[in-house]
Amino acid sequence: MNHFEYGPEGLACEGVPLARIAAEVGTPVYVYSRATLERHFTVFRDALVGAGIVDPLVAYAVKANSNVAVLKVLGELGAGADTVSEGEVRRALAAGIPGERIVFSGVGKKRGEIAFALRAGVAEINVESEPELNLIAEVAAELGVKAKVAFRVNPDVAAGGHAKIATGKSENKFGVSFAEAARLYANASNHAHLEPIGVACHIGSQITDLTPMRAAFAKMRGLVEQLLGEGLHVERLDLGGGLGVPYFDMPEPPSPAEFAVMVAEAIQDLPVKLAFEPGRVIAANAGVLVSEVIHVHERPEGKRFLVIDAAMNDLIRPAMYDAFHDIRPVIPRTGETTYDVVGPICETGDTFTRERLLPPLAAGELVAFMSAGAYGAAMASEYNTRPLVPEVLVDGDRFAVIRARPSYEEMLARDVTPEWV
Ligand code: LLP
Repeated sequence: MNHFEYGPEGLACEGVPLARIAAEVGTPVYVYSRATLERHFTVFRDALVGAGIVDPLVAYAVKANSNVAVLKVLGELGAGADTVSEGEVRRALAAGIPGERIVFSGVGKKRGEIAFALRAGVAEINVESEPELNLIAEVAAELGVKAKVAFRVNPDVAAGGHAKIATGKSENKFGVSFAEAARLYANASNHAHLEPIGVACHIGSQITDLTPMRAAFAKMRGLVEQLLGEGLHVERLDLGGGLGVPYFDMPEPPSPAEFAVMVAEAIQDLPVKLAFEPGRVIAANAGVLVSEVIHVHERPEGKRFLVIDAAMNDLIRPAMYDAFHDIRPVIPRTGETTYDVVGPICETGDTFTRERLLPPLAAGELVAFMSAGAYGAAMASEYNTRPLVPEVLVDGDRFAVIRARPSYEEMLARDVTPEWV
């Protein structure tokens, strides 16, 4: 459930019509619903607790939507943060999420990033390879601390909606094998500056079938039992993120409740705490991208282009993953016409959808891309020197700009022309 509904002034986010935000902030603009973010987080956590999982660490995947105001909303509910860069760790800390609820993942953490995370006292650094373990040990020794590490295991399970977001097969760059994990865990346990606390996995994103997750989690359970059997200390099993969301034209993905029951069954009464790294399921349907129609361009042979002021730099998912986003007119219209919806960027890839049936629209009208709260603004760029798209947070009948659109002066001021040109 989300809080984007049609009201007397057209499509609204909670109590605020999107048209009002567009008029005040301009377009394109991302709009997020605080109530939806809170609801999604609470439903996810309560589902786990309801399935008998005691005190889970729900570390929201910051990469999905990293705005500090969004992180603050979730952090206040008790969310932790799954991070993949120093920048994301800094965002989580800036939002008031304490280090002990921050997980630091990623295959290529640099020395400085590891040092920063250790100083911040993160809950665990998820180790993705042996050279990385050695680097973490080195940095921890330099700082005179003991690094809490968890080993990210690649369970060699195929999952995920698109090849570019599947991560759990052994040919993917993520994590160590089960055999390596057991060996590295035992070695690390004897290291003065390492404290292995658990194991982790994440097999992909936009997963709409629980079968691969169940298979991966059963393998992870086996690994924890093996490590415990060897007398090693294991306190946490991190099961990653990946639960899919409905993008309108697809079968309903499993609910958080179904997911939680599957987890409880797969893990049974393993004597460790569980951690989760959900991103999309929290943020996707809590946000929309609002854009204005610039022109309707009709070719004589019948092709009809809806040229809008949002582009692939603002929402890259359709261009990158052929992702489907529902597109709704902000002011309801009747009738149906076929459009290719395109942005102003000078690439054919800047096409949001082809041959989509939409109500007839005219220049100046607004459309909303639904389910754009995750991997939308977070993946935006300034390609074609288009100002980075702003973000707005709605709370009931009020709204606030939580990232302003930069001015052209600010954008150009970042470039420096050397004297010698
Ligand atoms: N944990 C790790 C280690 C991850 O790599 C990811 C996502 C997550 C958690 C969160 O997964 P989620 O619950 O959001 O599925 N840009 C793509 C999605 C990339 C996901 C990358 N990793 C998209 O727009 O579909």
